[in-house]
Parts: sequence; C-alpha cells; structure tokens
Amino acid sequence: MKKGALIFEGNEKQVFATDHPDEVIFRYKDVTVAYNNVKRARFIGKGALDNQISAILLDYLNKNGVETHFIRQVGDQEQLCRKIEIIPLQVVVHNRIAGSLAYRLGVPEGFRHANTIVDLRYNNDELDDPLINRDHAVALGLASYRELDEMYNTARKVNDLLKPVFHKAGIELVDMKIEFGRASDTGAIIISDEISPDTCRLWDEATGERMDKDRFRLDLSRVVESYTNVLNRLKKVTE
Ligand code: TYD
Repeated sequence: MKKGALIFEGNEKQVFATDHPDEVIFRYKDVTVAYNNVKRARFIGKGALDNQISAILLDYLNKNGVETHFIRQVGDQEQLCRKIEIIPLQVVVHNRIAGSLAYRLGVPEGFRHANTIVDLRYNNDELDDPLINRDHAVALGLASYRELDEMYNTARKVNDLLKPVFHKAGIELVDMKIEFGRASDTGAIIISDEISPDTCRLWDEATGERMDKDRFRLDLSRVVESYTNVLNRLKKVTE
C-alpha cells in the first residue's frame, strides 16, 4: 500500500489517497477544535492517542458485526480505511444527559434516564451542525428513510456493544457521535469516522472525572493525560 496525495484536510484529520482505489489513509492531527472551530489548540501526542483508541474501538465493532471503515493501523497517527461517500449527518446517542442536551431539556448535567436517546444533526459548519429529524434529512436528499433506519439501528447496536467495553474499563459511556458513509466498493452504509474521546463523553465511574474532549472545552487541563488513561484502560480490557 502506497500513500498518495492529500485529498481532504479537516481541522483534526487529513485523508490521503492510496494506490488502491477503495482505500484511503486517515491521519489524526495533534490539533483539537471545539465550539464549531472557535476554540483551537495543539496537544502533542493527541493524534496518536485518538488513532489508537479509535483503532481499538472500530476493530472491536468490525469483529462484532458492525461494518466500519477501519482496516488497520499503519502508523502512529495513521490508519488505513475504506473509502466512502460522505453522508453529512451525525447520529448522536445519549445514555445520560450532558452538554447542550441538559440546556435543551432543562435538566442538570448528569441527569439519568432509563431509555436511550438518539439525536440527528446535519453536519454543516456554516449552520453550526443543527439538530434535524429524519424528514429533514430525506427532504435535503441526504439519505433515504431506509438508510436512516439502518443508521439509527446501527447506532443503538454500537452503543450496546461499546457501553460494556467501557464499563469493564471503569468508564461510563455518557454519549457518543457516530458518522456514516457509503462504502465506495459495495455501497454499504458503514461507520466512517473515529470513535474516541473527541467524539464521546467518557466519565470515570469511580470519580466522575471527565476523560474526554470536555477537558479541553471546559479548560479542565490534563487532556493528554486523560486520553492516555482511556487508552491504557481500553488496552487492558480488549487485549
Ligand atoms: P451533542 O449533545 O449533540 O452536542 P454537545 O457536544 O453540544 O453536547 O453531543 C454529544 C456528543 O457528540 C459529545 O460527546 C460530543 C459529540 N459531538 C461531536 O463529536 N461532534 C459534533 O460536531 C457534535 C455536535 C457532537
């Protein structure tokens, strides 16, 4: 596999072509952004941590019946992935109320609910990733109802698979954002972005301490230390 030209540059990631038409290289940068790019910083080592954490979680999903874009890790900050056509939607799963959902529902952060909540957002920076519903997504031609059903079902399955993995590591999976794409070879709807402390809320079950991007969002310090802790704990329970 040969690394080719840069085909996409995001805030936190780069995507490179390879000599295989249906495979790309994902490179996780040391940059982190929040609040729709208003807040930005560089943390040496964060790209490698996100890469390894995401590799563990996506590999686990691949092996447990959920198709993802992840093929294998190919470097400290890089992984080989299946090429996809982007679906500009975010499926967000909540197990406990945190972040903006607390304001939206008028309940305190940490509020417990018995059911699983699934939200849909339109992945559009100019509009600030607004919450939308299935009808809006179909109206905009982003996905069909059948595809949306599949994305919702897969998101719930991912949550059911990953919650116990994090629990074994002493971490509560509070919420999680999942993105999907259409695989360029088969057209299947597959998970097409990282799953990491950048895209999940992860609370230490023993202390309640935040171990995710909220450490950066809320200026809680020890970002790299917390991500390292997540990686080490996940390694122990998945090896
Ligand atoms: P959500 O409740 O939609 O928004 P907020 O971060 O404002 O509370 O987010 C829940 C989870 O999804 C949280 O872990 C952060 C993650 N997320 C992203 O990774 N990227 C995004 O663009 C958004 C909106 C959320």
